[in-house]
Amino acid sequence: MIDAALVIGAARDRRALEPELIWSWVHAIVEGQVPDYQIAAWLMAVALNGLDDESVFTLTRAMAEIGTEPLTLRGLVDKHSTGGVGDKTTLILAPIVSSLGIPIVKMSGRGLGHTGGTLDKLESIPGFRIHLNQEDLSRQLDAMGLAVVAQSSTLAPADGILYALRDVTETVDSLPLIASSIMSKKIAAGSPNLVLDVKVGSGALMKNANRARQLADMMVRIGGYHHIRTTAVLSSMEQPLGRAVGNALEVNEAYACLCGRGPDDLREEVLVLAQEMVALAREVSADQSRALAEQALDSGAAREQFLRWIDAQGGDAKAVEYGLPVAARTPVLSRAEGRVGAIDTAAVGRAAQLLGAGRKTKEDRVNPRVGLEWEARLGDTVHPGDVLAWLYADQAEAAEAVEHIIQGAVTIGAEDVVPPFPTEIRRMHD
Ligand code: URA
Repeated sequence: MIDAALVIGAARDRRALEPELIWSWVHAIVEGQVPDYQIAAWLMAVALNGLDDESVFTLTRAMAEIGTEPLTLRGLVDKHSTGGVGDKTTLILAPIVSSLGIPIVKMSGRGLGHTGGTLDKLESIPGFRIHLNQEDLSRQLDAMGLAVVAQSSTLAPADGILYALRDVTETVDSLPLIASSIMSKKIAAGSPNLVLDVKVGSGALMKNANRARQLADMMVRIGGYHHIRTTAVLSSMEQPLGRAVGNALEVNEAYACLCGRGPDDLREEVLVLAQEMVALAREVSADQSRALAEQALDSGAAREQFLRWIDAQGGDAKAVEYGLPVAARTPVLSRAEGRVGAIDTAAVGRAAQLLGAGRKTKEDRVNPRVGLEWEARLGDTVHPGDVLAWLYADQAEAAEAVEHIIQGAVTIGAEDVVPPFPTEIRRMHD
């Protein structure tokens, strides 16, 4: 039986534990031998005191392996985002990279809180299947080198247990806990190359660049220790990415981007992430991989791959080509005159959630048709009556509450403009 008090005391007193004891601790958690109050005490001690690198490496490995059913199918490169508002990059990136002959098997999650999840976006496409059996997955990979599926409950189960407790004990915001959570799932997924999109700003878990860099570097070190070639891209979440926030709206915007009509910030971020994924998988320079990614996007090869992929997973590709149906829209108008100085992007995400695009608890169902289209970009000059955002709502009461949130989320007329964080790349050997 594990001595939980010893483990908690070590975290409280900043004493490193023997690796064997960390493995036993994670075992005991997965096997249900540790009561929640002791796990919660340990989480709080780690959140307050941090963990040394060696302990984080061991904890991450133990979380990745204990209770995980070994996977037989894996891609050559994987990607993970720390979570954002309007982040639909996977829908564009995965077809770009796989159209270049680089296989991708991506396990994705659902949205929770103010951030969206790739699975919810994909499920807004009629017929799209997020669960594939091994045979179908293998056939799809052979045929087109791309599949995006729901993360199985046997992938790093320790993370599921710890995350649920972190969510209710104010211990989500801890660098070693975030890094081990993300990296345990990525190690368990088994791809040898990994690109992390670490979001920075008002809509992200990391509100400032220094903490985002610390998190990025910690995850890159964990990757390196476990022989996964890892690159982190820091990217802005000071405003929604692109314009669309909400599931069908985001799929429509992603498809527009694949057709060469997407917003510039979305296209640029996708190309930076694609460049880093291709550079790792193909072992070519960033310039060469950028050219390959641009060519895949601009030639229409990625668009064709996207439609084949949707079709292969049972989705109605024609419906995407025509544009997925969305709710009726109403504008939120500016009441002030001046420059857009700052955007509370988490509030924008919460507004979309309130409209039904996101969920408050895991059990909630999302409404694919609702969300918002963001117009007011940082630095824009707006006049009274200009559109700040379009609301796509199915319920008038929700729209009223959301209008209020949007008005409060935009700072107009401030002296200074909070600039979007410029993309920054943290590679393993930099
Ligand atoms: N995403 C994760 O998967 N885990 C965290 O702890 C935070 C973001």
